[in-house]
Amino acid sequence: MTTEKILTRDPAETEAAGVAFAKTLVPGDFVALFGEIGAGKTAFVRGAVSYLSPGTRVQSPTYTIVNEYPGKIPVFHFDMYRISDDDSLYGIGFDDYLERRGICFAEWSENIGPWLPEDYISVYIEKDAAHPDMRTIRIRRNAAGSRKESL
Ligand SMILES: Nc1ncnc2c1ncn2[C@@H]1O[C@H](COP(=O)(O)OP(=O)(O)O)[C@@H](O)[C@H]1O
Ligand SMILES: [Mg+2]
Repeated sequence: MTTEKILTRDPAETEAAGVAFAKTLVPGDFVALFGEIGAGKTAFVRGAVSYLSPGTRVQSPTYTIVNEYPGKIPVFHFDMYRISDDDSLYGIGFDDYLERRGICFAEWSENIGPWLPEDYISVYIEKDAAHPDMRTIRIRRNAAGSRKESL
């Protein structure tokens, strides 16, 4: 397990962290985002998608649950805020998305703990009580090398 910690001071820095992160991703990666409302999950995904799917406008798929963005690798952006049971999750075709060898970003992964894929990258974003524009981003991965090579 490796953990990377990044501090950001404004939304642009969080987006930039998303860009740098996106460069490390490969098809089939699942990115589980955790953090309260307004933490910056969508900002981080916006940065990542600006690299993976240039020109795409990113908003939280709050009502649609999932947005799909075109690119060399397809990108699926979930907002699990309204997901509370496996019926609602599989109702959107969750397992079909997982099989499409794209890159998945899932906001509110707190809500899908039992249904997360076996192998995923966690991105935790925390606000700072004392500094309204500061965020701590923690990216947690399995030990290098164990990921994907066996597939
Ligand atoms: N360092 C920062 N990183 C990201 N967002 C920030 C930061 N500082 C302030 N913000 C603000 O916090 C909010 C983050 O919103 P958003 O990315 O939609 O969060 P979430 O998807 O976690 O609910 C935006 O209003 C943004 O302007
Ligand atoms: Mg969001």
